[in-house]
Amino acid sequence: MVLFYILTTLTDLQGQTMTKLNKISFSKIDAPSKGIVVALAGEALATGAATAGLVGDLTGGLANVAEIGGFSGKKKTSLDLVAPGGLSLDRLIVFGTGAMDGLTRDDWRAFGGAVLASLKSAKAEAATIVLEAPEGEELDAELAAEFAMGAKLRAYEFDKYKSKKNDDKAKKTLKLTLQVADPKAARKAWTTAEGIADGVILARDLVNEPANVLGPVEFAAKAAELEALGVEVEVLGEKEMKKLKMYALLCVDKGSVSQKLIAIMRWNGGKKGAAPVALVGKGVVFDTGGISIKPAGGMEDMKGDMGGAAAVTGAMHAIAARKAKANVVGVIGLVENMPDGNAQRPGDIVTAMSGTNIEILNTDAEGRLVLADAMWYTQEKFKPAIMIDLATLTGAVLVALGNLNAGLFSNNDELADKLQDAAKASGEPLWRLPLSKDYDKLIDTPNADVKNTGGRWAGSITAAQFLQRFSNDVPWAHLDIAGTAFGAPKGDTCQSWASGYGVRLLNQLVADHYES
Ligand code: BES
Ligand code: MN
Ligand code: ZN
Repeated sequence: MVLFYILTTLTDLQGQTMTKLNKISFSKIDAPSKGIVVALAGEALATGAATAGLVGDLTGGLANVAEIGGFSGKKKTSLDLVAPGGLSLDRLIVFGTGAMDGLTRDDWRAFGGAVLASLKSAKAEAATIVLEAPEGEELDAELAAEFAMGAKLRAYEFDKYKSKKNDDKAKKTLKLTLQVADPKAARKAWTTAEGIADGVILARDLVNEPANVLGPVEFAAKAAELEALGVEVEVLGEKEMKKLKMYALLCVDKGSVSQKLIAIMRWNGGKKGAAPVALVGKGVVFDTGGISIKPAGGMEDMKGDMGGAAAVTGAMHAIAARKAKANVVGVIGLVENMPDGNAQRPGDIVTAMSGTNIEILNTDAEGRLVLADAMWYTQEKFKPAIMIDLATLTGAVLVALGNLNAGLFSNNDELADKLQDAAKASGEPLWRLPLSKDYDKLIDTPNADVKNTGGRWAGSITAAQFLQRFSNDVPWAHLDIAGTAFGAPKGDTCQSWASGYGVRLLNQLVADHYES
């Protein structure tokens, strides 16, 4: 059952960001004779047979042209030839892969991104990419799909509010044909990979969207759109949450006129009745800090404080789109943290759904309050095999790890190891940080069962200790994505403020360990 509250106020979210990459198709390797072509060259200009046939007709040959252009096939360099002499092509971009030995999935995804960038700056409307391994065995279908994913993720731009788009409207339909050894296998791998890329893009869109457009109601409506993929979506409103005594979550939103909602997304692709994987997300649509208000500088970034909920929603999209043989439930707590006459105060004591009395010392430590009830509800209601929460939880994790790793905390070494393996495989890095009894003591208070801040030091750890008290000893992991969800430096496969971090990681974890 889907409950909707005041959907009449729903802001129109139509006109989603165009991804500028309309179509990727696959065909057999066959040196093309017209249009814009991308070919691969490896170390010392090694090329596959078809590519050798193609570039062999270049006036003076590839070696000569490359020498003049200062190109040697080094990884992620390229040689851009317009109307190349001897060939009937409009343009030939020779892209360097470097030595094939030891190239990873991450490399092929990055190559896809880098090639897309070259084609964009060439204002290409269509291009053929000859994905022929420069040396050694032919490129397998999974790596071809990874390349395509890199291109799709690189193409993403959040420009729906730019009246004049960054690119010419006419150039919005870039069609890519990837020539591969086995087009059928590549098409199949791409069906899976494209669903994952769409999940990443969904998460990016949600995080990039400002809070006046994407409030709890609108977020829940986006979650409900997953029903089209076969996900069951249910939304709890204030009335239901009061019945469940979720006062930790509810009190965060007291100063806001927005609605407080929990959206529950269920994908039942696994064995009937098998304990699900539970994903829980912090969805603070905007975090002013509340009465413990944040300084003005940079506060706009707090429109992204629902990055955990966005990652969970994007992961549910990916998992459902590829029809994963797993039971997965996503639970996101959607609130806004605002200061006003009704807002909660420092010193307030609130009782969470678990019965735990929480002393609020800082109203800006609100994410853990949302998760306390969302996690308790999730483990009680769904009895999950494992529970993973994602949250833009602490500034302190940025101090510790910067934008390059999310913080990983877990009460279970096996789960932590699985997550670290999934992080390596998906290229969304994690770094484990400790939990312990001594850290836990830092959130004791004489006035209640627990306080919501642990003082100045080890801020990410004491936040995680707080969450652990609401895990009820279920195998649980917490990912602090405050540094990775948004604001990271632009890269080969992400030019947007919001990264969509976590979607590929969670999908990988489910694929590797929780599918029957
Ligand atoms: N949403 C913030 C954390 C954050 C900071 C996310 C920077 C992304 C970028 C969170 O709610 C918060 O305000 N945390 C406080 C906790 C403190 C009051 C104990 C923080 O990190 O300062
Ligand atoms: Mn806060
Ligand atoms: Zn926050």
